[in-house]
This record gives sequence, structure tokens and C-alpha cells, in this order.
Amino acid sequence: MISNAYIVIFRIDVRSDTVKAIVLAAGEGTRLRPFTLTQPKAMVPVANRPILEYVIDSLAGCGVTDISLVVGYKKEKVMNYFEGGKKFGVTINYVEQPQQLGTAHAIKLAEDSIEENFLVLNGDNLTSPQAIEEVMSNASGDVTLLLTVKENVKGYGVVTTEGNRVTQIVEKPGTDISHYINTGIYVFAPAAFNEIPYTKISPRGEYEITDTIQRMIEKQYDVTGVHTTSMWIDASYPWDLLNANAAVLASLKEVPTQQDGQIEDDAKVRGSVIVGENSIIRSGSYVLGPVVIGRDAEIGPNVTILPSTSIGNGVTIDSFTEVRNSLVMNDVRLGSHSLVANSIIGKNTMIGSHFIAEQTKLAMPFLDGELHHVMNLGAIIGENCRFGHGILVEAGKIIGVHCTVESATTIRKNIDNYSTIV
Ligand code: DAU
Repeated sequence: MISNAYIVIFRIDVRSDTVKAIVLAAGEGTRLRPFTLTQPKAMVPVANRPILEYVIDSLAGCGVTDISLVVGYKKEKVMNYFEGGKKFGVTINYVEQPQQLGTAHAIKLAEDSIEENFLVLNGDNLTSPQAIEEVMSNASGDVTLLLTVKENVKGYGVVTTEGNRVTQIVEKPGTDISHYINTGIYVFAPAAFNEIPYTKISPRGEYEITDTIQRMIEKQYDVTGVHTTSMWIDASYPWDLLNANAAVLASLKEVPTQQDGQIEDDAKVRGSVIVGENSIIRSGSYVLGPVVIGRDAEIGPNVTILPSTSIGNGVTIDSFTEVRNSLVMNDVRLGSHSLVANSIIGKNTMIGSHFIAEQTKLAMPFLDGELHHVMNLGAIIGENCRFGHGILVEAGKIIGVHCTVESATTIRKNIDNYSTIV
């Protein structure tokens, strides 16, 4: 413990080849429903890979290969995908958190695997290797938090600082105390484990690590902040997935078209486009990257796909349909003569011909008891839906999972899971 009176920077010894990481992936992510009804938020795909895969890849890219992964809600989805971590160049030790009692509780459960200073990361934020590198190379004192600036800090842990010292952290404050937010990426000294049991239950009914850190600040532990402008993206609400998707695809811009699949002779593919194994882009189609298409997809003939779109594995898109700035998950079927823009379609949803996701400049989706204001948003459709032909969805409307919508219907309000609309 270091008194505030001594402004001396002690670098924490954080060597990437020995440091262990605790990655938190036990939560559901309720604000991201309907995409988290069958999987934790960390497993929601962005550019055809689960968000958590970007975290694990970034850790591996920094040489951090020893990972304790805290799982709980729908844990089998995580464990079946990542197994022991070998395919991803890391070793994963799973720690089960049967009830999601909070981030501090989750971290404490992984204590047995830790002896030295350690990293903690949220498994549900897109995190670049640079961000991890920055917190590791600048870590000092007992706790180091990676901070970034946000205009709208609602829903985050908000931090005040003096120099590099963190003077206060408040989880989801009611007023804007600053524009520095906690990214959920930290380096801790093992002393933090001794403080977690004193963490009080929060207004959200959880034991939150940010409350532990606030207590540590009050007890004169040395808590520092490192600012980052490197890529770090949190998708709080479903429409945030579109920005995350576009950001990941933008990083492909320099990649020349890569094909494991087949592009028929008179199809045009321009820009950075990845076409997965066994997929086919049929004649008369036009694909303008950045676009990623998974395995076993069938596109066209005469389909247009525009930036920044990701098309999952096993997707079929019928002729004269246009898709742009959208996230189409695995095994979706999109009928002919349809227009899908700024939209998300959950896996295994089948949509008939002449479907239109309406576009307005400003959509006002209603979610979580609140009306949100979102620019350029089309439709949000959950998994396993069955739509007939000639359906129009008003901009910003959210359709739950397993919904059936009869042909020639206009959807003007959100639709609950398992509904039938005639
Ligand atoms: O996204 C950054 C924010 O992450 C920070 O600004 C906040 O200070 C920090 O508390 C955290 O807030 P969230 O509201 O995003 O926390 P969430 O409950 O989503 O949990 C973060 C991660 O921890 C997420 O991957 C789920 C996992 N988790 C969560 C709980 C409550 C667990 O593994 N176990 C849990 O019990």
C-alpha cells in the first residue's frame, strides 16, 4: 500500500510471457437481447467471429497465453467453441460462476490460478492488442485501469483523475462526473483479492469490481489510470453491433480480396472481400468490400452486397436482393427482391421475397423501457424467425426470436419473442 503523499511511479512487473489473464464472460448481456437469449454477449458474432474471440486473439497477439475464462450463463456455448484454447494459440482454464453475482465475485473465483500481478478483461468488449499492450506496459501501483473518453458515459464506470492517479471511480453514476470511462481492462496486484470480500452489494444487486477499486482508493492503495485511443468497442445495445461490425471490417480495408470460395465469371467483387470455403457468388452479383462472407454461403445470381456487411456461414441470398451495412448471422435465408440496410438478422431466420427494412435518418427503437435515438437504423430481427413474402419492417423495430410473420404484413412496433403476426 502506498500513501498518496508519495508521487512515485512504481512500474508493476507485467511480462507478457508470464502474466495471467482473467477474462470475464459469465454474464448474459440483457441489453443486447434478443441476441443474448441463447448465448452470452461474449459469443455474439461481429464480422462472423464471437466478440470474445477478438479478446482472446488480442491477448495471444500480446503474448498472453495463460487465460482463466470465467463462464456462467450458457457456458457450454463458450466452452464448445474455445475448448482448451489450442486453436487460438492460448491455454484456457475454465472457472465456473454459477450465479452472476458481479464482476468482483467473478474475479475472486479465479484467485487459485493467480500468484503475481494479473490482467483482467471483460470478455464482451472488442479489444485491440494495442489497448492490452498499453495497459501492460504502463501499469504501476496496486491497480491500473485502462481508460478512454466517451461523450455519453451513461452505463459505464466513470473515473476522475489527477495526473495518472485515479481519485474516484463510480459505477453508472446518475450525473456526468467526467468523460473518462473504465474500459473493463485492468492490471491488479494480488492484494486486490484481499479487498474483494469487503465489497458491498451495489444498487444493481452485484459485487462490482469498480466498488472494490473505489474502496482501495479510499484505503490509499495506489490506483492509476492509463488512457487509450486504441480500438476498444463496447456494444451495449443491438444497434451498436453495426458499428462494431463496420469497425472490424474497416480494419480489413488493406486486405486484397481473399477467396476460399468461388466467384462466377461475370460476378464483380471489388475492395476487401473475404469469401469463405465452399461459398459461391453467382453471376451478375456485385460485392463491394469491406465485406466478409462465411463458409457454405450462396449469393445470387444478381445480388448486390455493399460495405460494411458480414454474411454468416450457410447463408443464402436470392436474386435481385441488396444488403448493405448489415450483420447477417449464420444460416439465414433472404428471399429475392429484398432490401436490407443497417440491419441485423439473427441466425437461422428465413425471410421471403420482397422484404424491406425501412430506412429513416433517425430511428427511435424502444428497448429496456426507454426510447433511444439512433441514426441510420433498419430492422433488428432475432434468430429462428419465419417471415412470409412482401414484409416491411419500420425503421428501428425489434423482432424477437422464433417469430412467425405472415406475408404482406407491415411491422410497426416491436414484436415479442415467440409471436405470430397475421
Ligand atoms: O464496458 C465497460 C464497462 O464494463 C465499465 O465501464 C464498467 O465500469 C464495468 O463495470 C463494466 O460494466 P458493464 O455494465 O459492461 O458490466 P457487465 O455486467 O456487463 O460485466 C462485464 C463483464 O463481466 C461481461 O463480460 C460479463 C462479465 N460478468 C458480469 C457479471 C455481472 C461476469 O463474468 N460475471 C458477473 O457476475
